[in-house]
Amino acid sequence: MKIALGTDHAGFDLKKAVLDYLGERNIEVLDLGAYEYDGEDSYTDPAFRVAGAVADETADAGILLCGTGYGISIAANKIPGVRAMACYNPESARSAKAHLDLNVLAMGGRVMKPEEVPAVIAAWLDTKFEGGRHLQRINKISAVEGSMLNVHNQGGGRITIFNHPLIQHKVGIIRDVNTSVKQFRELLQEITGLMVYEITRTLPLEEKEVQTPIEKTIVHTIGGRKMAIVPVLRAGLGMVDGILQIVPNAKVGHIGLYRDPATLEPVEYYCKLPFDIEERDIFVLDPMLATGGSSSAAITLIKKRGGKKISLVCLIAAPEGIERVHKDHPEVGIFAAALDSHLNDHGYIVPGLGDAGDRLFGTK
Ligand code: RB5
Repeated sequence: MKIALGTDHAGFDLKKAVLDYLGERNIEVLDLGAYEYDGEDSYTDPAFRVAGAVADETADAGILLCGTGYGISIAANKIPGVRAMACYNPESARSAKAHLDLNVLAMGGRVMKPEEVPAVIAAWLDTKFEGGRHLQRINKISAVEGSMLNVHNQGGGRITIFNHPLIQHKVGIIRDVNTSVKQFRELLQEITGLMVYEITRTLPLEEKEVQTPIEKTIVHTIGGRKMAIVPVLRAGLGMVDGILQIVPNAKVGHIGLYRDPATLEPVEYYCKLPFDIEERDIFVLDPMLATGGSSSAAITLIKKRGGKKISLVCLIAAPEGIERVHKDHPEVGIFAAALDSHLNDHGYIVPGLGDAGDRLFGTK
């Protein structure tokens, strides 16, 4: 285990105690300063260095010290993926780890004595995150981070929730039980079309020369890897045209899965993918990410047929589905127009919009 350590002048007196205790436990330390007392320094720089090391996984966790632990944790919490909090006693450290999976422990040199440090660090290190409902809450926090920054690393996988007002407006209408089949179909296409802007952000560009009426100039065209979209039948079909309107050359594969009534596991009944799937950026379309079972199975199928660079595009995601897909396929980025609360006993997303397939095709 490696812990990144940072302090300002007001936390400096605790630094030796932290180093001694981590040394006793044979824990590697990434010392990111301050290296000597400087009454003029600020908690912001060590906060961002340590938070950055935790966020990009250079370190497994972080410890921050300032006068109170407050300023330095507020600064660290601005870095997506960081959960930092000042803890002055073992009980608060224990609870912060168990419920919040605190990955940066902050302590205060003006409110704690050096001899109190080891017990607080021990409580934090030796407590396990409880997961379950606490993970759902953290996922929600992460989704808000993602919606502000668009992309956020979470458990190795990325989740992007769209906060664009047009998307949110349309999601509001599509949820309404009184929205007609015609409107539903149009809205699903429109929302997917608006999401394309973000989901294609990483497509590589190539330079080429064109002659404008004035002079020759270099322009950029989408090159390199090409796109494939793969709707999961049947509701995923409703998202296809929204993407094709913007990226008409994308190739379209199809995957059909049904749930085995005995095992409740998804079973493939149809799979036809572009022949060169291994060379394409693949976007799996599945409007409702509920348990994540069918999305995850679809991704597994695509991988078995050679697909490598895969993302999942949904309309509405539930924390349970995100967790499942990230667990099964940590490298797969998820894009969703909304993150909902949870699944009900029948596996429907709450508040959700009901069964997307039925609403799309008017079958209920
Ligand atoms: C520095 O004097 C002090 O304000 C800082 O270390 C910290 O206590 C802020 O929260």
